Amino acid sequence: MHRHHTAAALLALALVAGCASRTVPSSTYAQLGGAAGVEGIVDDLLNAIVDDERINQQFANADILRLREKLIERICAESDGPCTYTGLTMEESHAGRHITDAQFNALVEDLIQVMTARGIPVRAQNRLLLRLAPMHGDIVTP
Ligand code: HEM
Repeated sequence: MHRHHTAAALLALALVAGCASRTVPSSTYAQLGGAAGVEGIVDDLLNAIVDDERINQQFANADILRLREKLIERICAESDGPCTYTGLTMEESHAGRHITDAQFNALVEDLIQVMTARGIPVRAQNRLLLRLAPMHGDIVTP
């Protein structure tokens, strides 16, 4: 009887483990490191932007604390994390800034560098980038 219970418990454990590792793939959000990971990515990205002469002039008058909060929400939401984005649309927030293709690419390059430095798997990086790519048309407005 005791052996029987043990076997049942092991079976249940195996099923749970099986679900976690196979049936349900690890979400992009989890692979970014969850809430702490996304916050870290955004903080590193903001630092990289400030150091990046190709784009930092665009952020000269930015409200960095608000930008940080909204970027965290957006990246969390786009990686299917448990967040709701409460900021402006990409069209509203980038209108009239004359953001170029080269500047868009520079920011993406900074993001990739930050994620790579943090050890984010390339597949998870690409899943996030695929969700950001369609925003290009609303952000780049020559
Ligand atoms: C996929 C790429 C991008 C994403 C996901 C993104 C996301 C955001 C978000 C969430 C906000 C805040 C909106 C709000 O305040 O409600 C914002 C604002 C802003 N973004 Fe972007 N952005 C991207 C690309 C860029 C690029 C390439 C530039 C310029 C090189 C840029 C410059 C700005 C500026 C200047 C602001 C306003 C900051 C302020 O005045 O407080 N963004 N962006």
